[in-house]
Amino acid sequence: MASKVTVTTLLQMKSNKEKIVALTAYDYPFSRLVDESEVDVILIGDSLGMVVQGESSTLPVTMDEMVYHTRIVARGASRAMVVGDMPFMSYQTELSDALFNAGRLLKEAGASAIKLEGGASVCGLVEAMTRAGIPVMAHIGLTPQSVHQMGGFRVQRDRDRLLEDARQVEAAGAFSVVLEGIPADIAREITDTLKIPTIGIGAGPDCDGQILVLHDLLGLNEGHVPKFVKKYADLA
Ligand code: KIV
Repeated sequence: MASKVTVTTLLQMKSNKEKIVALTAYDYPFSRLVDESEVDVILIGDSLGMVVQGESSTLPVTMDEMVYHTRIVARGASRAMVVGDMPFMSYQTELSDALFNAGRLLKEAGASAIKLEGGASVCGLVEAMTRAGIPVMAHIGLTPQSVHQMGGFRVQRDRDRLLEDARQVEAAGAFSVVLEGIPADIAREITDTLKIPTIGIGAGPDCDGQILVLHDLLGLNEGHVPKFVKKYADLA
């Protein structure tokens, strides 16, 4: 069996200029198929709310739902790194809530890392989680949990702020960062600046890796599919 992808593997892939392949999954059978396809990272995204639960945003997803879905995905993944997403309001209240909830994804659900949205504003959390032995994937740019604050799912173009967010999450200890919905030239600059890998979604071709929502890529999602998604099938 191929060895498990770890934080160290991903850092090594960046320095070897090997592209990182990441996909979402939400259950055991898809997790097995994605894992067998040698995808490096499986994210149990809170996109769960939109593509599995039929919600119009990610906001209603609960911590218990994330623990459940992360657990059944982790069971199906023997090679890929399993990353559990922190849902809305599971980390924005108190540091102790954030640490407790992040810990649940590792202890109860079997994830190897967690992802949370935000840049400079979440650095204290990233530092505390990293200190506690919880690897953190940061997520900057278009952050869907802030849909109401952003006035919709909008591309983020503030270069200085994006660069600052990226630098700060790296300095706080994040092992990688998702760049969502940002112009390709800014994503390239961030990728060249950071030592940790960048994983893009709607951020152009020059990130260290790419992530897509599985249901978009398989054409299982009959709703809106973003322009940048390459559909490999039309299973709907
Ligand atoms: O929730 C999710 O699936 C995500 C990815 C699209 C990065 O955050």
